[in-house]
Formats: sequence, structure tokens, C-alpha cells
Amino acid sequence: MSEYCIELKNVTKKFGKFTAVDDVSIRLEPGKVYGFVGPNGAGKSTTMAIIMGALFPTKGTGRVFDHPLATPGALKELGYSPEFTSFYSDMSCVEYLYYMATLAGLSSDEAIKRTNELLDQFDLKQHANRKVAKFSTGMKKKVSLAQSMIHRPKVLLLDEPTANLDPTSRQEILDTVRKMVEEENLTVLISSHVLTELETIINHVIMIDHGHIILDAPIHEAQEKFKQGILLVDTSNNDLLLEKLASRYEYRIEEEDIRFNTIEIEQLKKDIVGIVYNENLTLNMLKEEVLSLDSLYKQIMEGETKNEGNIQKNA
Ligand SMILES: Nc1ncnc2c1ncn2[C@@H]1O[C@H](COP(=O)(O)OP(=O)(O)OP(=O)(O)O)[C@@H](O)[C@H]1O
Ligand SMILES: [Mg+2]
Repeated sequence: MSEYCIELKNVTKKFGKFTAVDDVSIRLEPGKVYGFVGPNGAGKSTTMAIIMGALFPTKGTGRVFDHPLATPGALKELGYSPEFTSFYSDMSCVEYLYYMATLAGLSSDEAIKRTNELLDQFDLKQHANRKVAKFSTGMKKKVSLAQSMIHRPKVLLLDEPTANLDPTSRQEILDTVRKMVEEENLTVLISSHVLTELETIINHVIMIDHGHIILDAPIHEAQEKFKQGILLVDTSNNDLLLEKLASRYEYRIEEEDIRFNTIEIEQLKKDIVGIVYNENLTLNMLKEEVLSLDSLYKQIMEGETKNEGNIQKNA
């Protein structure tokens, strides 16, 4: 049995002469949540559609566990909530889920049982008989998530499950995903533009731009790697501290605190402690800042624009 849930090897997808996905190789390990981020048109949805077998790669291969892409074995393991879902206009929520369950190969009895479980789990019971096409955007996203789980897949591909939702509905969807991951030990590939939210549920970040993977790393490793060395400091005499350090380190004042920005973070810490000791100051705060996924994204994207064509692979 393959140790990866999903493996893409050198996958390229061209639409005519345009290359939407360019030599992408990724591996997803079981039980982890992967954030799939990148600007509009980067190739996220196309990559997901390839994993789902809805699009065939122009070049390259892939597997879902031991099954080649687009085979019934692969599809059985995958649940998919697409970026845009269209619902049949005359189907109620319960009819839609039952229909999707039978399409996924469940027997009539199993389909009824599973539909009821999901209506419960997703808090949709009181809306079960309403027409799903008339649901609000947030409720439709919930139905789409429920649908992706109908055949108890091991891997979920969620393409912007929180797009166009208000903050409360976004949180509700993410809480549902988090609960599903914990209870069912799922592997999830989730794309989103709301990076600060993704940060709360992902273990790993995969960043794509112009069809290229430009970062593929555990979230903590990525944050560590791009940490500019930001140190927030507050002492009983900040003016004196700056008198001693201003010529050697870049800084700015932020709400009375000093915000140093340096790659020599360890030396800076030693210098600060030395000054505090020698000048008999009180050290009120010494805090190293953790980079947010948002600023990581901006840093990498800015770097990409500066060094166009110079791609860092699997950084
Ligand atoms: N069927 C198609 N025919 C032609 N071009 C396509 C097709 N599908 C996607 N593309 C192009 O491929 C590129 C990647 O599109 P894709 O939808 O994968 O981007 P994305 O990262 O999902 O973007 P977004 O964040 O806007 O959803 C885009 O330039 C898009 O216009
Ligand atoms: Mg997309």
C-alpha cells in the first residue's frame, strides 16, 4: 500500500497552448490538512480536477493510494466539494443527498441512513425538505461539504469551501471541517484565499503560482524559513537602548515598543540582554514574532514578481 494518499508526478495540464499546471509533483500524507494557496488563475482548481479524474493531465501521472487517477478505485477514496456547485432546481436537500449517495454506489437503505447522518452532522435537518437551489450561499456550501462525505472517503478535496461567505458562516464551515478531520482521520486538500483562516486548520502549505509549485512545506517550517527575525522589545528606558543599538540594527517604534528587524536575531538578543544588565534596565518584553500565513504568502509572491522565472522548487 502506498504511504501517500495522493501522489502527483510531473503533472502538466495544457489548454491549447496555455499551460495551466506546469510540472507539478506533490505528495499528501494520511491524516494531514494541506492548505492549497495561490493567486487567481494559479492552477488550484485545475490541479484538484486532475486529482478527481475530471480532467486528464497532458503529461505526468498520479495515484490515489495505490489507484491510478480517474479509476473507480481512486474515486472511491476521494470526496470533492467543487468551487462552484450547481444544484438541480427541483430537488430538496434530502433528495439531493440521497441522489448523490446512490450515484456514489450506496444501496437504497445505506443511502437513506447516510443522508440522515449527514443532515444531523451538518445541522441541516430542519431544512431537509426545502429546495436546495434556494438555499443561502453558506447553506449550499454546507450541503456541498456533506455531499463530499457521502461515501465516507479518506481524502477530501475542498475547493474554496468558504468563498463568498460572511465571517460567521466561514467559521462554521471551518469548524465543521476541523471536526470531520478529527473524528474521521481524514486527509484534506483545502484551497482558499482567506489565508489567516486556513492557518488555524492546516498542517502543511502548498503554494502555487502560474502553474508552478513555489512552496511545499510544513506550516511551522515555512514560517521559520521566512522569519525575517522580528523582535519586539520594551524596556524601562527604550531611548537608552536605541542609543546603543540604532547604528547596528534596523528598527521602528510601534506603540511605544521597539520593533527590530534583522537576520542576526541571536546576536541582537545577546546585545539587548547585555545592555539591560549593564545599564540596570528592566526588560518588560522580548518577543519573537511568528510570521502569519498571510505575510508568508505576500513575501513569497513579492519575491516571485522580483525574480520572475526564477522558481524555488519545494522550498
Ligand atoms: N477549461 C479551461 N479551458 C481553458 N483555460 C482554462 C480552463 N480551466 C482553467 N483554465 C485556465 O487555467 C488557469 C488556471 O485556472 P484555475 O481555475 O485552476 O485557477 P485557480 O488557482 O483555481 O484560480 P482561482 O483562485 O481564481 O479559483 C487560468 O488561467 C484559467 O483561465
Ligand atoms: Mg479555483
